[in-house]
Amino acid sequence: MRTLVKGGTVITASGTVVADVLVDGERITALAAPGTDVADGWPADVGKVVNAAGKYVLPGGIDVHTHMEMPFGGTFSADTFETGTRAAAWGGTTTIVDFAVQAKGTSLLATLDRWHAKADGNCAIDYGFHMIVSDVNDTTLKEMGSCIDAGVNSFKMFMAYPGVFYATDGEILLAMLKAAETGATIMMHAENGIAIDQLVARALAEGRTDPVQHGLTRPPELEGEATSRAITLAKVTGAPVYIVHLSSAPALDAVTQSRDAGQNVFAETCPQYLYLSLDDLARPGFEGAKYVASPPLRPKEHQASLWRGLRTNDLSVVSTDHCPFCFAEQKEMGRGDFAKIPNGMPGVEHRMDLLHQGVVTGELSLARWVEVASTTPARMFGLYPRKGTIAPGADADIVVYDPRAQQTLSARTHHMNVDYSAYEGFEITGKVDTVLSRGRVVIEAGKYLGTAGHGRFLKRELSQYLR
Ligand code: URP
Ligand code: ZN
Ligand code: ZN
Repeated sequence: MRTLVKGGTVITASGTVVADVLVDGERITALAAPGTDVADGWPADVGKVVNAAGKYVLPGGIDVHTHMEMPFGGTFSADTFETGTRAAAWGGTTTIVDFAVQAKGTSLLATLDRWHAKADGNCAIDYGFHMIVSDVNDTTLKEMGSCIDAGVNSFKMFMAYPGVFYATDGEILLAMLKAAETGATIMMHAENGIAIDQLVARALAEGRTDPVQHGLTRPPELEGEATSRAITLAKVTGAPVYIVHLSSAPALDAVTQSRDAGQNVFAETCPQYLYLSLDDLARPGFEGAKYVASPPLRPKEHQASLWRGLRTNDLSVVSTDHCPFCFAEQKEMGRGDFAKIPNGMPGVEHRMDLLHQGVVTGELSLARWVEVASTTPARMFGLYPRKGTIAPGADADIVVYDPRAQQTLSARTHHMNVDYSAYEGFEITGKVDTVLSRGRVVIEAGKYLGTAGHGRFLKRELSQYLR
């Protein structure tokens, strides 16, 4: 069936243009200026017209860092692939890249099979996988090659969480050598977990047990140090490195310096680090538990550096690190011991809106909004130009966005399967109006029209940033 998205302002990473967009089946087939002979001559058999006059027409958002039903901290993140991808669609995100999690003593390929079984037939939008590597050994290193063949070519490693996901510098070096050889990407959780664990033990021994201690025991310097170390290991091995969920000025400085020196270092930040702060972790009572994630929220003054990094492309991507745990029963596991609060925050539904807020306040241009939320994620993780742009041949993942609508974010109205909002009461200018996923309307007129199972697994190419 053909769909016409009519009269909107098409925004891509290269700028804006008023155009009608013709969709045939799952793909975009043409763009034309409204009112021209070409646009007027488009077939009479268009099955559906989406009126986008006065609105933006964007490539669907691509969130390359989510954790649906992730086993973590003695529980599971609260969104399933079904609920989490539906919430993503509500917020204008049409692709996620989630993480399969290797448990120690298990194989990467068996892990990948398990994650396929969780997601297959359940997703509202398209999805891919990265692989979390928590057990580096000869088999794992060999299996990285098989994962790449299966379309999973980015491997997350942790300098944090000793005893859980933590990898030594030697293990990281071996994985990076493999990445350099194969063209894979190593994604790094860069916090010095060995030093942090000592600070955590000391805080608990001294009776400092409140959620704010989560932030105070993971200082920005230990993110900066780990980021520098990851970059050094990458330099020695010749591998590119992608720093995930970068939260602080010292870490950004390390990324900026290495990029200025010509090294292939990339980084993402997340909306929580742009909009929330250590003050939220310090909310009275146990309220701060809602804001426990790692790296932690930082003092407010780091936010200006992150916006600067987004403008200068030292931060190339904004993802959510969506990893929701309900306040009741899950976050509450850490009452009296902040180290037992499951780490992670919800956000997959709000990334496009929160970043549009950056456009409204003058931090980002419209083109840069689309670039950090869709185009660069697509290129970074081998999905471009199928995803990440509005152009003939691309998948018809299209968001019609009303830049003037007003909304208030709240747990009462969001669609994520979690009992609180980290952004409760935030006033937002702009709202998703209509969403197409591969040509199918999934959100329209305030209704969800999608189905679980419409979303397909995306076998990704290698990062398109280095080739
Ligand atoms: O606190 C966080 N970020 N939870 C999710 C796991 C991770 O490290 O990304
Ligand atoms: Zn992480
Ligand atoms: Zn994460």
